[in-house]
Amino acid sequence: MKVAPLSAALGVEVTDVQLADLAGASLDALKRQVFENGVAVIRDQQLSPDQHIAFAKRWGGIDVNPFFPTNSGWPEIAEVRKAEEQKDNIGGGWHTDHSFDSVPAMGSILVARELPPSGGDTLFSSMGAAYDALSDGLKATLAGLSAVHTADHIYQPGGYYSHTDLADEMTGQELSTRAVHPVVIRHPVTGRKLLYVNGAFTTHFEGWTREESLPLLGYLYSVASREEFQCRIEWRPGSVAIWDNRATWHLAQNDYHGHRRVMHRITLTGDPLAA
Ligand code: SIN
Repeated sequence: MKVAPLSAALGVEVTDVQLADLAGASLDALKRQVFENGVAVIRDQQLSPDQHIAFAKRWGGIDVNPFFPTNSGWPEIAEVRKAEEQKDNIGGGWHTDHSFDSVPAMGSILVARELPPSGGDTLFSSMGAAYDALSDGLKATLAGLSAVHTADHIYQPGGYYSHTDLADEMTGQELSTRAVHPVVIRHPVTGRKLLYVNGAFTTHFEGWTREESLPLLGYLYSVASREEFQCRIEWRPGSVAIWDNRATWHLAQNDYHGHRRVMHRITLTGDPLAA
């Protein structure tokens, strides 16, 4: 297995490995790369949907996202799809998947299935680097805070995703997704302190109004989205990305209008978050 950094802050590119039969010490080495670097892109894979599911199960459980169209025949696989005529894409703002769950997903394994001729990259940002960049005073303030996360405004009819493929999955029922998490969490494997708020799903600090929360959240987002804390995955046929949701944000670029992009995502079950 060959490993090269994607940027100074996070991410690695992995070659000379086949995920379909990766197990034992080699799989443990790849997991370590993901936990320590936040995201890994593994090149030149030929993973069928069944092999994608089997590989994901070697990381633990699979979380099925009820808001995504499932790929027919594989309920574990969420299809992240943008058609030629669609304007909005899925995941086009900085976010971390499933932070609205009380036990958020550990991460995701995303397989490129159909790519546009150019564009459609995915950006990642390091929440460890973002936390490290804060002053000791602000770190002390954040240590006592929790934040509220919800996805209702995204997945509800009329919500942010009404003009994407996910609209077909919207049932018309009122949603009530809600979770409260510490604003700073500790990575369960590396022990690194991580900023755990995001602009897509975090609404306010617990015990604060939204108006009171927005200025500080806005400041934290401005730090967390600094270019120096980012890396970029340029997708190629056969590329697979594996990321750690606790340690990163990600954003799918929407710069390929008129072209189709289809990705298969499996979301990995996480552990309760701790400060
Ligand atoms: C996602 O937000 O999970 C999708 C990322 C992508 O399509 O690049």
